[in-house]
Amino acid sequence: MITNRRILSGMRTTGRMHLGHYHGVLKNWIKLQHEYECFFFAADWHALTTEYENPSQIQKHTWDMLIDWLASGINPNAATIFIQSRVPEHAELHLLLSMLTPLSWLERVPTYKDQQQKLKDKDLSTYGFLGYPLLQAADILMYKAGFVPVGEDQVPHVELVREVARRFNHLYGKESGYEAHVENAIKKLGKKQAKFYRELLKAYQEKGEADALEKGEALLSDCHHISLSDREHLMGNLSGSGRVILPEPCPLLTEFPAVLGLDGQKMSKSYHNVIELREAPSSIEQKIKTMPTDPARVRRMDVGDPEKCPVWNFHKIYSSDEAKNWVCEGCRSASIGCIDCKKVLSDRMIEDLAPVRERALEYENNPDLVRSIVAKGNERARDVARETLDDVLEAMGLE
Ligand code: TRP
Ligand code: SF4
Repeated sequence: MITNRRILSGMRTTGRMHLGHYHGVLKNWIKLQHEYECFFFAADWHALTTEYENPSQIQKHTWDMLIDWLASGINPNAATIFIQSRVPEHAELHLLLSMLTPLSWLERVPTYKDQQQKLKDKDLSTYGFLGYPLLQAADILMYKAGFVPVGEDQVPHVELVREVARRFNHLYGKESGYEAHVENAIKKLGKKQAKFYRELLKAYQEKGEADALEKGEALLSDCHHISLSDREHLMGNLSGSGRVILPEPCPLLTEFPAVLGLDGQKMSKSYHNVIELREAPSSIEQKIKTMPTDPARVRRMDVGDPEKCPVWNFHKIYSSDEAKNWVCEGCRSASIGCIDCKKVLSDRMIEDLAPVRERALEYENNPDLVRSIVAKGNERARDVARETLDDVLEAMGLE
């Protein structure tokens, strides 16, 4: 397979980002944006699958989220940032994919029943909610992404995406005119390379020489003058799989551990245990002050164990080794009080978040700038989306 260095990931639009998003997702994206060609988008339609009864907040949530991405360091010159609903091609691809996706594939995705159970106050027995992972398939396949950075819970979704892509390629990978397209692409290689390609084809298909496939890949990745579509035809023809129109993506599991909230549970808006990226310093201080600690430390002279204290989870992220030693020793010997321990943490956290908060305020005060950044991203995304959709329509004979 020709390795595809393109990455796509998205987030449901849930409003302002908190530390869980920051340490768990955004920092990873920021790292990836320099290593891959990245597309990051606000999944406002995915938000609609659960918020359809009250969609009025979705727009505000979208912009709040995008501002926090930018403030955290997602760089619009390195990555393409866009809004799902501004690239309506996603809806067209979703519809086309829905024609060939068996209902049972969607019904057995674990998040389907889990979320219905969890969000009992919402009626999620809708067509749109069942199609949630298929819309996600359209998002990913649209950009022919090689990798999708996601958390563990999303792996079954990416698995479904792979199955849908495979079915699509199987059904439409040998469109009429396929042979002619391949012949044409061979000619475009140039005389010498075309001869080499034919030799490889013979070696692989008639003699089963496995290394011919590798040599073919090397040959094609050196041919910069042919289009992606030509390359896919030539590779598919060589391996005998037909043309891969929609490549299968791989999940890229985030190595960052989940951030825990103020109460020690997973940080999540619905648990009311978050610290937002734009949280005011006084509010950070207040929230940390009222955090629960190791229940064994009832009085100041009781010794504690940091491993049983949610405050320690944050020290692990924010504090220097020296401060961490001070906490561990002080807590276990009761030589420090929880108030001292928390003060050190909140000072550190406030200092660390200050530049993010400052940048967010700048964007907040300059909505035109944010809109123009995102408009450019939407446009760039649309160019790619249009190309894929044309390929898809051609393969299906609907162009
Ligand atoms: N379902 C994802 C989530 O809840 C959001 C999402 C939508 C997504 N489309 C995507 C993630 C495409 C990765 C790729 O987090
Ligand atoms: Fe938690 Fe710090 Fe108090 Fe120990 S001293 S219980 S780590 S807040």
